[in-house]
Amino acid sequence: MKILVTGGTGYIGSHTVVELQNKGFEVVIVDNLSNSSIKIVDNISKITGIRPLLEVFDLTDREKTADFFKRNNDLKGVIHFAAFKAVGESVEYPLKYYRNNLVSLVNILESMGNNEVQNIVFSSSCTVYGEPDELPVSEQAPIKKAESPYGNTKQISEEIIGDTINTSDIHGIALRYFNPIGAHESALIGELPLGIPNNLVPFITQTAIGIREQLKVFGNDYPTRDGTPIRDYIHVVDLAKAHVIAVDRMINNKMKKALEVFNLGTGKGYSVLEVIKSFEKVSRQKLNYKIVDRRAGDVIEVWADPTFSNHELGWKAEKGLDEMVLTAWNWEKALLNKINE
Ligand code: UFG
Repeated sequence: MKILVTGGTGYIGSHTVVELQNKGFEVVIVDNLSNSSIKIVDNISKITGIRPLLEVFDLTDREKTADFFKRNNDLKGVIHFAAFKAVGESVEYPLKYYRNNLVSLVNILESMGNNEVQNIVFSSSCTVYGEPDELPVSEQAPIKKAESPYGNTKQISEEIIGDTINTSDIHGIALRYFNPIGAHESALIGELPLGIPNNLVPFITQTAIGIREQLKVFGNDYPTRDGTPIRDYIHVVDLAKAHVIAVDRMINNKMKKALEVFNLGTGKGYSVLEVIKSFEKVSRQKLNYKIVDRRAGDVIEVWADPTFSNHELGWKAEKGLDEMVLTAWNWEKALLNKINE
């Protein structure tokens, strides 16, 4: 059972490779290493005892993608993670995002069609819901106009997959992630932000370890319980496990529609200050932070209704906030030890 994992050396990709291998799947990774390290492949094999195959090329290259699929005509499915993901950068360089995130998907779908590869799991985002009208957010919630080119690439990608499915034998599962955080319990793989982190948890751990001076909390005047925005943080290993279930569902013809969409969240929302408190508790240290102005484009609050995923996939996020934050902290400390080795 061979699965292509695009972006398999990245944050969510690497954790998914581990879970796939744990369940006996053979994995081939395609990655251009634009936002990840080749060393992750060594660390994946340290965890699972199996070295995944890696091919380094850019999936926006149509010929290389076609050639890869020709050589790998025994693929049972594709999990497509490879994409740019920095919201702010996408506002500054929209075409970079549209080209990278959309052209790669088109190339993959085209090659799947030409080589009778029928199953694709797509890495989508709760960003498609924007500021939701009702909480928690179910899969039936309306798609809102995207706040950023990045968010728009997720919406358009779901549409591209939907249109392709209507006219081919391809089946798709779009997994809409809420806020993935944390790292593998081995601290051998985790998030490796390029430059200054945009996201809350890597910024917290980098501040605590001394790479950043101070965390800026973007606004405490939102209409929430403590004034800071609320998100549904989900452990990356819980998220990774859902991908294995999705692949299994496709291969074993358990899908109820040719395109299925699932929310991947815990169903619980935490504020920025609650995440900081959790960090201070598990790390037993105070975090240097200050409240500053709101960040443009942030939604006030969003958390998932995971009922449909829980029932249909037989999947449930298991790890709580403290465990998520602790694994992120252990990963940050492991990175520091490696630098000092
Ligand atoms: N935050 C801070 N300080 C920081 C970083 C973040 O206060 O230095 C706050 C944000 O204002 C927000 C919360 O922490 O309230 C979470 O912010 P993140 O950047 O970690 O996550 P977002 O919810 O903004 O974004 C995430 C993903 C995106 C995805 C989006 C969908 O990173 O890829 O969810 O809502 F599009």
